[in-house]
Amino acid sequence: MSTHNRLTQWLAIGVVATTAVVSGSALAQSSSTSRTAQTPPAHYGFGKLASPEEIAGWNIDISPDGVGLPPGSGTVEQGKALYTQLCLACHGENGKGASAAALVGGDGTLNTPKPVRTIGSFWPYATTVYDYINRAMPWDKPQSLKPDEVYALTAMLLNANKLIPDDAVMDAQSLPKVRMPNQKNFKAAKNKENMIPGVRCMKGC
Ligand code: HEC
Repeated sequence: MSTHNRLTQWLAIGVVATTAVVSGSALAQSSSTSRTAQTPPAHYGFGKLASPEEIAGWNIDISPDGVGLPPGSGTVEQGKALYTQLCLACHGENGKGASAAALVGGDGTLNTPKPVRTIGSFWPYATTVYDYINRAMPWDKPQSLKPDEVYALTAMLLNANKLIPDDAVMDAQSLPKVRMPNQKNFKAAKNKENMIPGVRCMKGC
């Protein structure tokens, strides 16, 4: 079978599947108008509604403005101790990089042939540092850190990038106020033209 035919076949299967799902949900609507959001649709015969606790476990994203940041706090000093214990092996002394990426430095390199993209040189929002560490690090034990520890590590890394002073304390109020040097260079695409995949916007974007 040619690639094209195989693709057509897959697309056809996709259409059948989509139709089934659509008519299934249409059925659910018409046959159970009295059903509340809390009652699972029995006729599917599988699955269960996620509990608020289960949803909370997944709902961990932190917005650029800090929405979602939990209570707690951490200092640069506390962060240094945790970094040595949990991060240094992969990210190197003071975040300068080892087997894993550098987290510090790279200032002024973005528009050179060898850009070094770190938290300090590249990331637009300080709150993303919290989000990333909280959801993904340490690499070998993600989501094992407590909020105080994540705040402390965030403080240490922002301090190592010279963005906050040595005595800074990071918490849900102070972290969103930290301004990242490269934030101004992140620009939303203004029109459809600039969003065509594969076509790089070179002017006025
Ligand atoms: C076992 C090795 C390992 C350990 C330990 C580790 N990391 Fe990482 N880290 C990685 C790898 C690999 C990546 C790249 C992941 C990717 O691109 O998907 C990464 C990426 C990151 C990034 C994003 C870097 C970027 O610019 O994209 C941050 C921030 C980070 N780690 C922080 C930490 C912190 C804080 C700790 C300690 C709590 C830690 N890491 C511990 C391996 C590690």
